[in-house]
Amino acid sequence: MTVSDYDAVVLGAGAAGLMCAAVAGQRGRRVLLLDHADAVGKKILISGGGRCNFTNIHTSPATYISANPHFAKSALARYTPADFIALVDRHGIAWHEKTLGQLFCDGSAKQIVAMLLEEAAKGHVDIRCGQTVNQIDHSDNMFRGTFGNFHFTAPNLVIATGGPSIPKMGATGFAYDLARRFGLKVVEPRPALVPLTLGGDDVLFRDLSGVATPVEARAGKAAFREAALFTHKGLSGPAILQISSYWRHGEPVTIDFLPDAAPGWLVEAKRARPRATLASALPLPDRLAQTLADRLGLAGELGAQTDRKLAEAEARLARWLFHPNGTEGFAKAEVTVGGISTAGLSSQTMMVKTVPNLYAIGEAVDVTGWLGGYNFQWAWASGYAAGQVI
Ligand code: FDA
Repeated sequence: MTVSDYDAVVLGAGAAGLMCAAVAGQRGRRVLLLDHADAVGKKILISGGGRCNFTNIHTSPATYISANPHFAKSALARYTPADFIALVDRHGIAWHEKTLGQLFCDGSAKQIVAMLLEEAAKGHVDIRCGQTVNQIDHSDNMFRGTFGNFHFTAPNLVIATGGPSIPKMGATGFAYDLARRFGLKVVEPRPALVPLTLGGDDVLFRDLSGVATPVEARAGKAAFREAALFTHKGLSGPAILQISSYWRHGEPVTIDFLPDAAPGWLVEAKRARPRATLASALPLPDRLAQTLADRLGLAGELGAQTDRKLAEAEARLARWLFHPNGTEGFAKAEVTVGGISTAGLSSQTMMVKTVPNLYAIGEAVDVTGWLGGYNFQWAWASGYAAGQVI
């Protein structure tokens, strides 16, 4: 049996694994990068509608969700959006800011994968795809495993196999199983950046499928001001995807349909246009305005309503409670919240505290970014942190 020796083996050739392997390879380390999919970086290729929202210039630890909100600070400070932009610029990839600090390729996400592959090639990384990783053992300070019929050994092992969101793209819970085997805790993984489903009394809103409007969405203490979209299953759009990462089963989601309206606007509207109906006075898409007016039971002209009733209607429009009965699940979730507990990892190097030279990076770890390029920035930063030391 032939066994190939490396300095480090990186499991998972997604965003974090490619970055980590390239950085370590360019430091002169002999790196093996393995993926069970038939090609590397598949999520990068489909990201950002095919243009890859590769970072966000407003990245800060506050834009991440984790049981330990301080954990991401160190890695994010040592590999910043400016560092990734400099890399993208060195490769001559044109980009633009779309909105809210989100940077996208002008051309295609393929350029980001090609860039990472070029960086990995500079570091002579041995990339192998399309087999199953089996039998990872650890003894005498060496990790040993097989990839199909290929046997490898290395003193460093990096878990970079991501989270279980979008299984049909090759996503698995492998990282959690491996982490548990090495005694690490896993914070309950939940689908995040995912549409919410409506049932019960809210089910009528599904008739508004396709209607979108800017809102402020709130769950617990989190609030996001962006567009919400009604779908045939419930609620989606950026505001809802963002809030889904904070939402817990059984909790309501509160929507302010008119976040920019001045207090007392509806009574003012009655004074200015007493013959108008509520539906026609609401500065919202027609179908939505009609549904909300019907739900509020305010038919007829505004002039016929008491100021008190209008003030109550205004308050409900600012705090409309939806009671989602679930999410569209991992099949539709852009990311996973939860994952390998940061309590067991060094925030400087991403090394497992109790197993020297075992590392975990990227989405596999309990660090989840908001929508808008933050998840890739975490993948680059955590991959870089481990790539510097393996
Ligand atoms: P990632 O999932 O990228 O890579 C893990 C790799 O491990 C995969 O290649 C997988 O095949 C491999 N693997 C899994 N199990 C394995 C096993 N058992 N054996 C071997 N290999 C295994 N983020 C962002 O910042 N901007 C954006 O525009 C988008 N857009 C977007 C769109 C869609 C549709 C999705 C699903 C997700 C996004 N994201 C995003 C999120 C982003 O894609 C995600 O956070 C990163 O890809 C995470 O990088 P990782 O390298 O940690 O995991």
